[in-house]
Amino acid sequence: MKQFQKTKSFAEGLDSEDPLRLFREEFLIPGIEIDSPKTYFLGNSLGLQPKATQQYINKVLNQWASNGVESFFDGEASWIHQHSLLVDQMSILAGAKSQEISIMNQLTVNIHLMLGSFYRPSGKRKKILIESKAFPSDYYALSSFISFLGEDPASILIEVEPLSQQQPVNDEDVINAINDNSEEIALVFIGGVNYYSGHVFDIKRIASAAKQVGALVGFDLAHAIGNISLQLHDWDVDFACWCSYKYLNAGPGAVGGVYIHERYHTDDSIKRFAGWWGYKMEGRFQMHHSFQAEGDATGWQLSTPSLILYACLEASLSIFEKAGWGMVVEKQKAMREWMRFLLSDILKSEAGSMLTCITPEGAGCQISLLFSRAGKEVFDELIKAGFMLDWREHNVIRLAPVPLYNTFTEIWNFCETLQLVLNRHYVKP
Ligand SMILES: Cc1ncc(COP(=O)(O)O)c(C=O)c1O
Repeated sequence: MKQFQKTKSFAEGLDSEDPLRLFREEFLIPGIEIDSPKTYFLGNSLGLQPKATQQYINKVLNQWASNGVESFFDGEASWIHQHSLLVDQMSILAGAKSQEISIMNQLTVNIHLMLGSFYRPSGKRKKILIESKAFPSDYYALSSFISFLGEDPASILIEVEPLSQQQPVNDEDVINAINDNSEEIALVFIGGVNYYSGHVFDIKRIASAAKQVGALVGFDLAHAIGNISLQLHDWDVDFACWCSYKYLNAGPGAVGGVYIHERYHTDDSIKRFAGWWGYKMEGRFQMHHSFQAEGDATGWQLSTPSLILYACLEASLSIFEKAGWGMVVEKQKAMREWMRFLLSDILKSEAGSMLTCITPEGAGCQISLLFSRAGKEVFDELIKAGFMLDWREHNVIRLAPVPLYNTFTEIWNFCETLQLVLNRHYVKP
């Protein structure tokens, strides 16, 4: 690896050598239209809009205008083929077979549907294991699903706590909890990348530990898809679901995705909720009374999809396809190392004693900085200086430079400004 130097010109050099540098041009950067581009580090929250999204949406609107309902079946670009195009692109990011992916609904809805199929309590094997500080909607989905089955969520959910409250839950904590409750766990359900700390869980290791005790295992990949490299099929994950509005840049409320391991596609012991869009393609429009599921993950679809949301996702996935997923992951690693390199000096400085980086070393775009004091004041000043970041209770600034539209120079500028702002707020003990 190249030896980093702590200068702005070095950052500019990294940008000029970056094979993905031109992809920034494909996105609408906030503030750029008034010649005052913001530094957008919120790809972990809502990714930026690809310039092509409008064209993709317009194509659907034009098809609708010209052909009405015939657009579902008419011609090569017919709507009925859209799903298979999207699953092919998505399967690369998920590390799955195309037939293991379905593009449908939104994330919390999909968590409920996956629980319907993969939470299979039996005898004393009834518990669901999750990490503490999972995203709130995951708790709401799990708790309400358990209540719906007539059980008490408090007696079913095992929340894995970290060894020390100063640290995020780590892989070891999860594995120990799986082994400690080996005979009672029906399902392990973990966020692949924790939304608060940015910690990337070892999905392969957790999946294998869950299997060894006879539990099923699923992941919420909202903060993982389009961020880290995934091999869901090879890691033998049973199911996973995600949203597409963060690192996938498919817009607010974008259509979500699920992965279901192929071994379940035609397994009659797996229950599911059904709707006509999950019916076998060849008979879907013949209006039969009894349900026959499509023999792959699309058999879990319920309703007519939004072609407009499909268009937004296609616009975005086409950029990943052009850039090459491997290249995106490479740049993500380089950006993270650059950020860590600059941050390490800040953390060692006197004023740096006000904060800790709670994101463990490893993969992923996100960095979470926990403040012991003046965090909100520092955050407000960074926002005024043109950085778009977010604040998460308690006392955390999250930021996520992403490979497709952020630059090494933006990371440099951020770290330089952070040090200046910290110095202003530092009070000697
Ligand atoms: C980890 C995680 N899970 C679930 C959700 C909820 O997603 P949705 O609003 O698409 O249901 C989010 C939203 O940000 C999230 O970050």
